Amino acid sequence: MMAAFRLAAGAALLSLFSLPVLAAAPPGADVQSIERGRYLATAGDCIACHSVPGGKPMAGGLALATPLGPIVATNITPSKTHGIGNYTLQQFSDALRRGVRADGAHLYPAMPYTAYAKVTDDDTAALYAYFMHDVAAVDAAPATRTDLPFPFNIRLSMAGWNVLFLDTKPFVADASKSMEWNRGAYLAQGLAHCGTCHTPRNALMAEQLSKALGGADLGTWHAPNISSDSNSGIGSWSQQALAVYLRTGRAAHRGQAAGPMAEVIDHSLKHLSDADLNAIAHYLKSVPAVRDAADTKPVTQWGQAGDDLRAIRGVPLPQNLNTMSGAQLYDAQCASCHQARGEGSFDGSLPPLFHNSATGRSNSNNLVMAMLDGVARQDGGSGQLMPAFRHTLTDEQIVTLGNYVQTMYGNPAIKVTAQQVATLRNGGAPSNLIGLARAGIIVGVLLLLALLVWWRGRRRKAM
Ligand code: HEC
Ligand code: HEC
Ligand code: HEC
Repeated sequence: MMAAFRLAAGAALLSLFSLPVLAAAPPGADVQSIERGRYLATAGDCIACHSVPGGKPMAGGLALATPLGPIVATNITPSKTHGIGNYTLQQFSDALRRGVRADGAHLYPAMPYTAYAKVTDDDTAALYAYFMHDVAAVDAAPATRTDLPFPFNIRLSMAGWNVLFLDTKPFVADASKSMEWNRGAYLAQGLAHCGTCHTPRNALMAEQLSKALGGADLGTWHAPNISSDSNSGIGSWSQQALAVYLRTGRAAHRGQAAGPMAEVIDHSLKHLSDADLNAIAHYLKSVPAVRDAADTKPVTQWGQAGDDLRAIRGVPLPQNLNTMSGAQLYDAQCASCHQARGEGSFDGSLPPLFHNSATGRSNSNNLVMAMLDGVARQDGGSGQLMPAFRHTLTDEQIVTLGNYVQTMYGNPAIKVTAQQVATLRNGGAPSNLIGLARAGIIVGVLLLLALLVWWRGRRRKAM
């Protein structure tokens, strides 16, 4: 009885990783693999790094900013001269899941192979079929190439880091959990690489798995805690609210996606099936809670509607606009959209600033980043949803306004400081955000250490 159940569950889990057969697909397994590969490439967001805005898909060229210099994503079209057209399935698999190129050289972990290592053999083959047969070959090298200074140009140093931090085991389904959970875990840990941004890193810049999805600074934007904790994470969000957020970047009275998360949604998540987004949401709700002690209540429940209009009525603007009060700045720059009392619009298209994770968190970077860079989406009509105030507001004004918004509408204990605003303002052009977010910081300390490990290994061998 038990064994029969296990068997059935096992078979069900096996079928998890194949999408339903496409009704419209012509006969032939190949076409199906290609279609599945296309979907998986979307889930993996390959295009976000391997294309430049306005450039040919997968032709490479995007420079991911790192403290050591730019790491440029390569041409992964099936071009035989400039792309991966000569890659065998095994070589493709090694690049995707081991971080090793066809010529044997190691990739930098700016390519998220530590997450892709979870991808199953079947899905790797489907991705290969898609890249070989359905991506248009581009016979041209990206305009720039990776050229890191010594010693970071020694790619072999990554071998040492991989020994420490690359877990090469593909995803193993947990038979005690539901099919939905397993599908969600597979996608979130693997292709969709949520942890690349949302998991804090240790001193060697590897993901701290004991704090999985516990939140991390990406240099400019903050990827918040999305563990199941009811105060710090998404514990108080329903599965449905999460799935809606992953498709639209918006969850009423909770949060909206800007910066790198908006890009992830526009390129990748919003194209996934309802079943897959629900599976990811279902899985998130089970990720062990990570709590930030500063979060004494849910980050989505701080603040309330309010204004300080009495303090500014009839008060002339100061001569030095840098000394404008928070209420004056709010009234002049924000109230037209977020409304006089911070309550947003009735239909929710203009969000309230209270009961908003951007003002309730113990990290105010996203409030500052939203002011500096605005909120933009590439979802057809809407485009720029909130203007960038980078050139309208000075650092002093952003500090005053930020602290006003925190006190009036958010967690009043959390401050915006002058140093923070100056750092975030200089954190790189918006086009570098993706790089900083996904790859950036990883390389620094890491490579040095890896080099040390490698060197010690060699010394030991020599002795
Ligand atoms: C976060 C950015 C990022 C994402 C997402 C990403 N890549 Fe990469 N990838 C890179 C970078 C950067 C390199 C080059 C690294 C280097 O030169 O060490 C690279 C290199 C590669 C290579 C090696 C090609 C060669 O010969 O130089 C392959 C193959 C590859 N990626 C495939 C993929 C696939 C397939 C996906 C989606 C499932 C993907 N990548 C998603 C950043 C990314
Ligand atoms: C490239 C980095 C990056 C990746 C990859 C990424 N995120 Fe995010 N995520 C962010 C950032 C940054 C924010 C904050 C957005 C904001 O507040 O404007 C965010 C916000 C969120 C939020 C809202 C949290 C809140 O309290 O408002 C959820 C939920 C979320 N991400 C889920 C996911 C899931 C699930 C995945 C993987 C499928 C994922 N993210 C992948 C960077 C990323
Ligand atoms: C033209 C209208 C408009 C103006 C002016 C405006 N905002 Fe926004 N703001 C929006 C919209 C729309 C969103 C949410 C976008 C979405 O739903 O994805 C938003 C989102 C936000 C967020 C959440 C960002 C995140 O990452 O979660 C904050 C914080 C914010 N605004 C603060 C401000 C402040 C402070 C000002 C004044 C300097 C301001 N806004 C001015 C329209 C505006």
